[in-house]
Amino acid sequence: MAFPRHRMRRLRQHESLRRMVRETRLVPQQLIYPLFVMEGKDRQEPIPSMPGQFRWSVDLLVKEAAAAYHRGIPAVILFGIPDVKDERGTAAYDPNGIVQRAVSALKEHLPDLLVITDVCIDEYTSHGHCGIVRDGRILNDETLECLRLMARTHAQAGADMVAPSDMMDGRVGAIREELDQAGFSHLPIMAYAAKYASCLYAPFREAAGSSPAFGDRRSYQMDPANAREALREVELDIEEGADVVMVKPALPYLDVLARIRAQVSLPIAAYQVSGEYSMIKAASQAGWLDEAQTFLESLLAIKRAGADLILTYYAKEAAELLNM
Ligand code: PBG
Repeated sequence: MAFPRHRMRRLRQHESLRRMVRETRLVPQQLIYPLFVMEGKDRQEPIPSMPGQFRWSVDLLVKEAAAAYHRGIPAVILFGIPDVKDERGTAAYDPNGIVQRAVSALKEHLPDLLVITDVCIDEYTSHGHCGIVRDGRILNDETLECLRLMARTHAQAGADMVAPSDMMDGRVGAIREELDQAGFSHLPIMAYAAKYASCLYAPFREAAGSSPAFGDRRSYQMDPANAREALREVELDIEEGADVVMVKPALPYLDVLARIRAQVSLPIAAYQVSGEYSMIKAASQAGWLDEAQTFLESLLAIKRAGADLILTYYAKEAAELLNM
């Protein structure tokens, strides 16, 4: 009976009408551009597994952030690559560390750009783990002290939001308490709440030199097989004071994203991670996929599944296309 009275194709005949009934819209205003910052001056080092992405010295980082900002990207998230790494990742919470200096420089030159910092010591530890290591174990509570200091020094440098990504238990609460005590009760926390132990971070680890020297991250990051557990992680982070919760990676975890969307009223972020970027890049370099169509469709799918904010290495290119 439905057919021929109902014809779904009626609303698909005209581009203007298609646009009017479109349920999901991708806008540059919700994209966050991840950037790697390193020591030195006038340096732009290509990341081999992520063609088109670079490690920047602070001066060139400011230029790259400005280019993104002027295309309508409101925010960047920073990852630091220090010259010296040690057991406790002390460079991560040096008030004069690489990210702290990058934040000050960005806020000085681009005061309206939102500067988010990743809070995790893995890029700063000699063993590459996200926590303090003793007898081959990753210690939870001892790591919280480093995270507090790291978040506070980022705030003092002028960061607009901090994003803990280590998956230690209790870090959101610890960072909230530290920020409040230091006079930063206004500073929001974006928690990497459901972060999976994914193979898709490999290019990032090449970029940041943060592959674990032994073992893997499965004692702290989530098992890719678990979805209910993500809801529990999100609940706990919200209870501890998270203002935004994140799912990571994005595209292979859209079910998790949709489930969280159905349960939570907070804004949700999704991270299209390095491996997602590299897969699209490689297929398009081989001539097998159209790069722009592929990343736009991926980003749209992430949005449709429930993300408000999307972290993507394609932010600059996406903004350019979305502004046309
Ligand atoms: C940890 C961190 C990682 C990523 C973001 N924050 C690496 C990891 O957990 O090993 C990965 C992001 C990406 O792959 O793009 N500081």
